Amino acid sequence: MDIRQYLERKREEVDQYLQSVIPSAETMPTTLHESMRYSLFAGGKRVRPILAIAAAEAVGHAGKAVLPVASSLELIHTYSLIHDDLPAMDNDDFRRGKPTNHKVYGEAMAILAGDALLTMAFELCARANAEHSLDAARQVQLIRELAVGSGNLGMVGGQVLDIQAENKDIDLATLQSIHKHKTGMLIRAAVRMGAITAGAMPAQLDDLTFYAEQIGLAFQIADDVLNVTGTREELGKNPNTDAQRGKKTYPTFYGVEGAKQLAEECVTRANDRLASFGSKADPLRELARYITSRKN
Ligand code: IPE
Ligand code: IPE
Ligand code: MG
Ligand code: MG
Repeated sequence: MDIRQYLERKREEVDQYLQSVIPSAETMPTTLHESMRYSLFAGGKRVRPILAIAAAEAVGHAGKAVLPVASSLELIHTYSLIHDDLPAMDNDDFRRGKPTNHKVYGEAMAILAGDALLTMAFELCARANAEHSLDAARQVQLIRELAVGSGNLGMVGGQVLDIQAENKDIDLATLQSIHKHKTGMLIRAAVRMGAITAGAMPAQLDDLTFYAEQIGLAFQIADDVLNVTGTREELGKNPNTDAQRGKKTYPTFYGVEGAKQLAEECVTRANDRLASFGSKADPLRELARYITSRKN
């Protein structure tokens, strides 16, 4: 299969769905909606929604209900990026090829746009039921997965560990925990939510969860490597910011080549766990490879 084509097709589906549900910039309060749209439609790769869709495809037929579920993950992810870039956090001024949200709309509006995206994610997730008659018990499970992946024991918890580790001589176990939470837990939620929407059996969910945990780590290792090797043009965000902020990363511990090797090992372990899905999991296999070969 051609992963570029697959990514492009799915990205368009997700973008079309998001365009249809996010209020226009003319809707009151107009600045809030403009600010939400500014970051959401700035050209993200949509990796998390696409992982959810591919996981649903690996399990079987998920129908249209997967689109609101998948898109809810992108709302959470975009909110996390807006807040991650704030002066109180990573203090970055470039994201998705454009000035960061707070550079354009100010800190108060950036915080509120993030809050609104976070909240709307749960509304979208709840919409899958009303629009596509998803079983109510499964819907509650999806909402819980989204909360766990995003919250204090998930992404937010990881962001806390990341901030607390700045300029500290952290050990490898701490770095692994940061990565597992700040990036891994939302990717894990994405894969699990796609699978749950499609009605995965417990053993399938276990296999896909293992896959997700491995590629989640690979994804953040690749982000660390690109922070060292990428250019602003390629990344759409400034490189070398980890070193500038005193963040220890995988390249700090293993060097760039060592870190790349470790990410590849995660991908191999992830894909080895997909055997029982046959060719239906080809998009997941290709997505795992894409995660370590990407240039942005
Ligand atoms: C960047 O995520 C932040 C991390 C969690 C590593 P992505 O690389 O998925 O960023 P976008 O969505 O394509 O901008
Ligand atoms: C971002 O991690 C993780 C979240 C937004 C949750 P980083 O701070 O390492 O990612 P970039 O490099 O700014 O995208
Ligand atoms: Mg950060
Ligand atoms: Mg950052």
